[in-house]
Amino acid sequence: MTDRYGVIGHPISHSKSPVIHRLFAEQTGEDLSYEAFDVPPAKLGEMLDEFVKIGIRGLNVTVPHKEAVAKLASQLTDRAHLGGAANTLIIAPDGHLDADNTDGVGLLTDLTRNLRLSLKGSRLLVLGAGGATRGIAPALLGAGPERLVVANRGIDRARELAERFDRLGPIEACSFDDLAGRQFDVILNATSAGLGGGRPPFPASILTPDAFCYDLSYSMAGTPFLAWCRENGVRAAHQGWGMLVEQAAESFFIWRGVRPDTATVLAKLR
Ligand code: ATR
Repeated sequence: MTDRYGVIGHPISHSKSPVIHRLFAEQTGEDLSYEAFDVPPAKLGEMLDEFVKIGIRGLNVTVPHKEAVAKLASQLTDRAHLGGAANTLIIAPDGHLDADNTDGVGLLTDLTRNLRLSLKGSRLLVLGAGGATRGIAPALLGAGPERLVVANRGIDRARELAERFDRLGPIEACSFDDLAGRQFDVILNATSAGLGGGRPPFPASILTPDAFCYDLSYSMAGTPFLAWCRENGVRAAHQGWGMLVEQAAESFFIWRGVRPDTATVLAKLR
C-alpha cells in the first residue's frame, strides 16, 4: 500500500515540499504519496487527530505551526527540543507523535557541502530572532564560529534567544543600530521582512566585499535582501533553495531510511 505523507501550514498553497518529495520518491523508488494540507492554527489539534485516523505516516510542518507541534509531540529530538520548534513529525499508528527539526542541518549542508563555505572561526551574523533563527541556531553554533551575533528589530527577542543558546557556544544579541561599524564574514537573513517586499533595516556598512550573504527565503524573482547585498558588492549572495531541498532530504531520510540525491532535485527546482 502507498504510504501517505504531507506538509501542514497556513497558508500552504505556495509550498514546494510536495514537488520536492514527489521527486525524491520517483528517484528512490519509494512507494509514497505527499500532499499539502492547509491547517488553520485553531484547528491544529483536531486535524492532527484526523491525520492519524486516515493513516498519514509523517508530516512536514511550516509557518505558523512549528512551535505548536513541538508542544503537542509525545517526544522531541534534542535539536527540536533546543529550538522549541519542529518541522518534521513521525506519526505512529497509535497516534504517538515524534518531532524533529531538520532546518539547521539542512542549512548547514547547503552552506558547507553545496556552497563550500566553512563556518569554523567565522564572524557570523543572523538577522532576525524568530522561529527560523531558533531552528538553526544550535546547528550554527555547532559549526564552531568565532562568534554568532543575532540582530533583531526588537532587542528583547534577540536577548532571549541568546540566553536560550549560550551554553552551546559564543552567542551575542544586538539591535540593528548596534551593528554600525561592525563587520562579518557570513550574514544570514532569517527575518520575514522579504514577505512584505522589504529588507531588514540594518546599516549598509556591514556589507563588505568579503561578505558571504545568504537569505533563508527564496523566490523565483530573487529576494529584496539579496538584491540589496549585490548592489553593495558582496562576494556571494545565495537564496535558500538549497536549504529547502536539504531539510526535505533529511525528513525523507528520517521517514524512509533512504537518502535521496539532492543536486538533481535542486537543479530542477531552480
Ligand atoms: P519565523 O518563524 O519566520 O522566524 P517569526 O517568528 O514571526 O517568523 O519571526 C519573524 C522575524 O522577522 C522576527 O525576527 C521579526 O522581528 P521582530 O521580532 O522585531 O518582529 C523579523 N521581521 C519581520 N518583519 C521585519 C521587518 N520588516 N524588518 C525587520 N525585521 C523583521
